[in-house]
Amino acid sequence: MTDHPILVIGATGKTGSRVVTKLEAKGVAVRRGARRSETPFDWEDPATWAPVLKGVSKAYVTYFPDLAFPGAVEKLEAFTKVAADSGLEHVVLLSGRGEHFATVGEEVVRNSGIPFTIVRAAWFAQNFSEGYLRDPILGGALPMPGGDMPEPIIDIDDIADVVVAALTEDGHQGERYEVTGPRLMTFAEMAEVLTETLGRPIQYVPISFDDFHANVAASGGEFVADIFTSIARETLDGRNAHVTDGVERALGRKPRDFAEFAKTAMATGTWSVAA
Ligand SMILES: NC(=O)c1ccc[n+]([C@@H]2O[C@H](COP(=O)([O-])OP(=O)(O)OC[C@H]3O[C@@H](n4cnc5c(N)ncnc54)[C@H](OP(=O)(O)O)[C@@H]3O)[C@@H](O)[C@H]2O)c1
Repeated sequence: MTDHPILVIGATGKTGSRVVTKLEAKGVAVRRGARRSETPFDWEDPATWAPVLKGVSKAYVTYFPDLAFPGAVEKLEAFTKVAADSGLEHVVLLSGRGEHFATVGEEVVRNSGIPFTIVRAAWFAQNFSEGYLRDPILGGALPMPGGDMPEPIIDIDDIADVVVAALTEDGHQGERYEVTGPRLMTFAEMAEVLTETLGRPIQYVPISFDDFHANVAASGGEFVADIFTSIARETLDGRNAHVTDGVERALGRKPRDFAEFAKTAMATGTWSVAA
């Protein structure tokens, strides 16, 4: 273990905040990479990249909002050049399963010359508790397109555990961990688990991709809706409808179940109506 800090990009986000907490619990020095961090990091401002990389040994990289946004892969490539020049010894990239542009981003990191680990993740369970589906859940609904297509939804605490293992243990360089939860679930089945856990009805509402687009556009605008709808169409077409062994390969244990996620999230109060 080195004394140089580990950079966490997206340190205030869903996975990054967990990676920060878990690294610090192990006594590892962390440099937070976010726009209002002590040393600010902004994907839109390349002048911030070299200062945040100065003196760090390793980095966890999440791209916001998604590698499918125009210019994202180019920015990731430019960032890895700066990181290679600054002597970064290991990069761990968060990628998404079945997403074309995430795969292109993975190639950028593979070709960067920096030792790497790729964590290619399934759909996050925390989308329900900390993401864009929290508000509908508070209203008692789970509106999703894709029909009965099952998804091996993952608890992002498992993603953070894999990332921390990759950053702090030997044996993970060059690996691509495709990480999923332990079972395939339809959104209707997820709604049943949430109903039981919350103790009030959470109704699965099957919607079309056009309705999904309209919902996203209402809050995020047409452009953002176009990209997220295209990702939803891509990832809910059946290509991701199988579980993988990435968590077990990286950690030597099974991933957490969605029911366990729901209990843990419930205990934080995120779904209390007054929140
Ligand atoms: N949701 C899913 O189901 C899913 C599944 C697979 C993969 N993914 C991937 O997960 C990634 C997102 O990771 P996450 O969910 O852990 O993060 P997140 O919760 O979306 O948080 C975003 C983070 O990025 C930071 N950020 C926002 N704008 C930024 C900018 N211009 N420059 C630098 N930092 C910025 C935010 O910090 P500040 O606002 O404080 O600056 C925050 O720390 C995406 O690439 C997505 O494709 C998501």
